[in-house]
Amino acid sequence: MMSTFASSTAAVPEYRALPRHVAIIMDGNGRWATARRLPRVAGHAKGVEAVRATVDACARRGVEFLTLFAFSSENWRRPADEVSVLMRLFISALEREVTQLQANGIRLRVIGELSAFEPRLRELIEQAEARTAANRRMTLTVAANYGGRWDILQAMSAALRAQPELASHPERIAEDTIAPHLSMAYAPEPDLFIRTGGEQRISNFLLWQLAYTELYFTDAFWPDFDAAALERAFASFAGRERRFGRTSAQTAAEPG
Ligand code: IPE
Ligand code: IPE
Ligand code: MG
Repeated sequence: MMSTFASSTAAVPEYRALPRHVAIIMDGNGRWATARRLPRVAGHAKGVEAVRATVDACARRGVEFLTLFAFSSENWRRPADEVSVLMRLFISALEREVTQLQANGIRLRVIGELSAFEPRLRELIEQAEARTAANRRMTLTVAANYGGRWDILQAMSAALRAQPELASHPERIAEDTIAPHLSMAYAPEPDLFIRTGGEQRISNFLLWQLAYTELYFTDAFWPDFDAAALERAFASFAGRERRFGRTSAQTAAEPG
């Protein structure tokens, strides 16, 4: 089983002025395109460029984990042709970008219910993960057909499979029974959550892990998000007082 990181609810975690783990809801592609009288899918294509720039900027700044929400478990509700373009874009990004990830020392992980994807996509994901597995500079996680509720449920099932006796001793179920089975057990909880596109909601992203994450919302549409916009989010984060339930005076005495 993979090692687990400190839980923000079990103890006050250590943290720094620069987020170690950044999680982003890349929203606003469709509206970016519509504002330019382009089809929505043009916004998704442009969004891939913003992904490239953000991955690069985060790696340069020393972020250790970057997690991007690419497709939610609810995004299947969109028109079939838009879903199909999103799948094509995912495939072409995997075909074209992995060499660069490899050159930059970036490890790729994809989380979500991947069994719903076509075999070609699943195969590319497996290959990309295997090829970049030894890289240590930064871990890029792409959440695809991901839902926070799905993640908690699959972790519960996995915990029960690993320890069937829990079913007859439910009082033994604790955070550390479940957390090691979450799909991002290899990463610490996000320090900073960013959502572009102006909406202020979580949309079923990392529900468990966002317990004490600092939330940052920007009206910028995802295709317009760049290194300067990322710096503004970092500056906002650096000015936050992360209390984790304590008083301000306690936090000042022992920041974490
Ligand atoms: C985010 O942009 C990309 C995905 C959800 C796949 P949207 O496509 O949600 O863009 P808006 O929110 O409609 O502008
Ligand atoms: C969240 O964006 C999912 C991704 C960015 C992949 P949505 O555009 O799907 O979210 P809602 O529907 O506005 O909440
Ligand atoms: Mg949206």
